Amino acid sequence: MTKHVGFLLILFPVCGHLLDIKFYSNPYKYTWADALAYCREHHTDLVRVRTAEENEALQYSGWIGLSRKDATSPWKWSRGDEIAIFTPWDGEPKDNENCVNRKSDGKWECKKCDEKKPFLCYEEKLILVKENKTWEEALEHCRSLDGVVTEDPASSYRNHGYDLASLITPDDYTTARETAKEATTDEVWTGLCNLAGEWLWVGGEEMQYEDIPKCPTEGLCGVLEKNGRSPYGIRNCQQKRNFLCSKMN
Ligand SMILES: *[C@@H]1O[C@H](CO)[C@@H](O)[C@H](O)[C@H]1NC(C)=O
Repeated sequence: MTKHVGFLLILFPVCGHLLDIKFYSNPYKYTWADALAYCREHHTDLVRVRTAEENEALQYSGWIGLSRKDATSPWKWSRGDEIAIFTPWDGEPKDNENCVNRKSDGKWECKKCDEKKPFLCYEEKLILVKENKTWEEALEHCRSLDGVVTEDPASSYRNHGYDLASLITPDDYTTARETAKEATTDEVWTGLCNLAGEWLWVGGEEMQYEDIPKCPTEGLCGVLEKNGRSPYGIRNCQQKRNFLCSKMN
C-alpha cells in the first residue's frame, strides 16, 4: 500500500486537547478491508459517525467504518464494535452489501465490501486499548501505535504520536472517564508514574493535581478507576490491565 497520507481536514472545534479529532479524506481507492488497514496504520481508524452534525461535517464521500458480517447481523462500527444508531440510509441495504459508503450528499449506501472506493479515516487523541498489559508494556504499545519509538525517551514523545495518556485538564479527565467506560477491566493505566519519588505524566507534562499522595516507592503507576469516586488510583506497575493512549500534538 502507498505511504502517502490523504488530505488533512480539521472539521471539529477543539475543546480540551483530548477531544481534538481530525478527519482525513483519502483519494486512493481501496476495498473496505484495505481502507480499514490503511486508516489503522496511518491514523486511528475508519471514521465513526454518530450524529447528523458529525455526518454533515465529513463532507466527502468514501468508506466509513460501518459494516456487518452478513444480512442478519447488526451494523457495527469498526472502532469500539458498537451498534450504529444514527444511519441515514439511501435505500434498503441488499443482502450481499455489507459495507457502508458515505455519498457526497451525506446519505449512506451499502456496497459490496470488495468494491474499491475512496475512504475516510480519522485520528483521535485518546485511544482505549482493550488489551491487558503491564504499565511498561502499555507504554511501549502506545509509543509504537504510529511506529515511532526512539532510544531517547525525551524525543519519543511530545513530537511524535502516542504515549500513555496524560490527563492534564478537567476536560481531559472527563473525556478519559467516558472513554474508559468501554474498558474490560475496572481500571485502566494512565501515563502517571512515580520516578524518584515524584509523580509525573510520562508524556512530559508536570502533574497538575495536588491531591495525589507523593509516593517514594518505585514500581507504582497510576490508574483511572472506571467507577471509582476518586480520579486516580495507584497500583503496582506489574499488574495487567487495559490502558489509555493519547497524542500530545
Ligand atoms: C482482560 O482482563 C479482563 C478482566 O480480568 C478480562 O475480562 C478480559 O477478557 C481481558 N482481556 C483480554 C484481551 O485478555
